[in-house]
Amino acid sequence: MLLDTILDARGRAAFLVGGVGALLHPRPASWLPLSCPAPDTARHARGFEAISILPRQEAADAAGGIFLPPRDRPPSGPVMKYVRPGCGWPGMTTIGIIGAGNIGSQIARKAVELGYQVVMANSRGPETLADLLEELGGKASAATPAQAAAAADFAVVAVPLKAVRDIPAEPLAGKIVIDTTNYYWERDGHIADLDEGRITTSQLLQDHLPQSRIAKGFNHILAQEITTDGRPAGAEDRRALATASDFPEAAEQVARFYDEFGFDTVNIGSLAESWRVERDRPAYGVRQNAQELEANLAKAER
Ligand SMILES: NC(=O)c1ccc[n+]([C@@H]2O[C@H](COP(=O)([O-])OP(=O)(O)OC[C@H]3O[C@@H](n4cnc5c(N)ncnc54)[C@H](OP(=O)(O)O)[C@@H]3O)[C@@H](O)[C@H]2O)c1
Repeated sequence: MLLDTILDARGRAAFLVGGVGALLHPRPASWLPLSCPAPDTARHARGFEAISILPRQEAADAAGGIFLPPRDRPPSGPVMKYVRPGCGWPGMTTIGIIGAGNIGSQIARKAVELGYQVVMANSRGPETLADLLEELGGKASAATPAQAAAAADFAVVAVPLKAVRDIPAEPLAGKIVIDTTNYYWERDGHIADLDEGRITTSQLLQDHLPQSRIAKGFNHILAQEITTDGRPAGAEDRRALATASDFPEAAEQVARFYDEFGFDTVNIGSLAESWRVERDRPAYGVRQNAQELEANLAKAER
């Protein structure tokens, strides 16, 4: 039985199982079926590159002694970003992805590889997603947007901006929603508030989903690069992606997700500031590390 989880600043986790402990070393995100003291520890090893079985106290000491709150309470503060899917925060393992085109399907591919469950939705109905589901395998299912939203521990909105008003609000109430959308007036029609710089695309979604916690994510990377551009933490050429939110925990969630995907994060701040990473700004679509991204965000003009 899993008793406690301890994480240190480097993301190492000590799982204490009965009288013994297991120290898990982060990266890469792969399943390592090493010998474990209990099935629960094996399950929690997902996403870590190695596991050392140690006496309980030794594992706790090695990991630095930061306790993850009990499993029925979501973690908060700096611990949260080091939790891996299925690694002690079971409340955040199913992603509802509304929009199953370029961006939605690419996020799903990587998320499934990382161990998440994904529930995909589009406008034409779940039956039209059979090919994608076959490719994604057993961790993916298809549903209507309302069902995907209801099933989600957190959600991704990956539809054209003009379809944002169709996103079901009620089943997303209280949830973190990652907004990938961009404004292409050629496709979405003109929206005066955007044309005149009075609002951001993510604020539009936040206004539509007032009870959800919106965070910008994945909007300034080409869809195909989501599965090819990730690098291990600390790699010299690690790409950085921006987020923004009016809710710190939502930005934190995106940062954790980016990290799992192999990207660093630059937090722009509030949704009102997210125009800095919108279409045609210097940071848009560019491969850049965190320092370069910060510089490009600072250069942006409205
Ligand atoms: N493509 C990129 O590289 C990229 C990069 C960053 C951000 N983005 C942004 O991400 C968003 C999605 O782009 P994309 O390229 O993935 O578009 P896409 O390939 O055209 O896919 C759009 C998806 O949204 C679904 N959809 C449309 N209207 C819907 C509705 N009312 N309810 C539910 N689902 C609906 C579509 O379903 P049906 O096919 O059934 O209609 C489709 O699955 C856009 O806002 C885009 O600007 C794109």
